[in-house]
Amino acid sequence: MTTTEQNYIPRHIGIVMDGNGRWAKARHRPRSFGHNAGRKAVRQVVEGCLRMGVEALTLFAFSSENWQRPQEEVSALLDLFMRALDKEVDELHANGVRLRFIGDLDAFDQPLQQRMLAAAKRTAGNEKLHLNVAINYGGRWDIVHAARQLAAAVARGDLSVDAIDEPAFDLHTSLAGLPPLDLFIRTGGDRRVSNFLLWQLAYAELYFTDTLWPDFNQLSLQHAINDFARRERRFGRTGDQVAQA
Ligand code: IPE
Ligand code: IPE
Ligand code: MG
Repeated sequence: MTTTEQNYIPRHIGIVMDGNGRWAKARHRPRSFGHNAGRKAVRQVVEGCLRMGVEALTLFAFSSENWQRPQEEVSALLDLFMRALDKEVDELHANGVRLRFIGDLDAFDQPLQQRMLAAAKRTAGNEKLHLNVAINYGGRWDIVHAARQLAAAVARGDLSVDAIDEPAFDLHTSLAGLPPLDLFIRTGGDRRVSNFLLWQLAYAELYFTDTLWPDFNQLSLQHAINDFARRERRFGRTGDQVAQA
């Protein structure tokens, strides 16, 4: 890969993995069958990101709104999540993936919290790919959580109000320290953000595809990245300014 091509590889990709239920329904199977099938797609995108040198990948696995689903679907999802965690961590670790979980993790029972912490700790020294799994995550929660931490620091006298600027705020969000989100992908045909990374989406390129999540693979990822590579990111400047830079 030449360095010019490398410039068109997004450094950080976020994905709303949607369409598992419809994928299963089309096969006359329960929704959990679709969630299970989605695991293969996760492996595919992780492999693709490793191969192409993407630095960070953030996957929306369970939103703060998903608790409203039928109890049995919620349990099936958490169960699947726990099993996937046990099964995949070895290989992720062997491939140099640093795994982290973002979201309000206090909502989960202790065994699951412990497993997430252990996986994060075990892979903490890896640098090839930052893989963030958003679970009980909401973009609004992320912003409120950061605001609370800043307010607490001010109340303690550790921070002055004047020191609260965008970089300081960013430091308290879930993806602090990672490259800015370059590319947002949503599968499943809906064109909405559904309370995923709100703060981080400010200048991300948005890509929507009708492909249902279980059918998404490395080629689909390549299509999304090719689309990203064709875009001109101006960040407020003019096209001429960008061409000159
Ligand atoms: C995404 O697929 C997975 C989660 C939200 C956990 P869905 O379950 O939302 O699938 P559809 O949108 O109903 O097809
Ligand atoms: C978004 O998908 C959440 C995840 C993919 C985890 P949903 O299927 O929950 O989104 P809505 O409800 O259609 O907006
Ligand atoms: Mg959905």
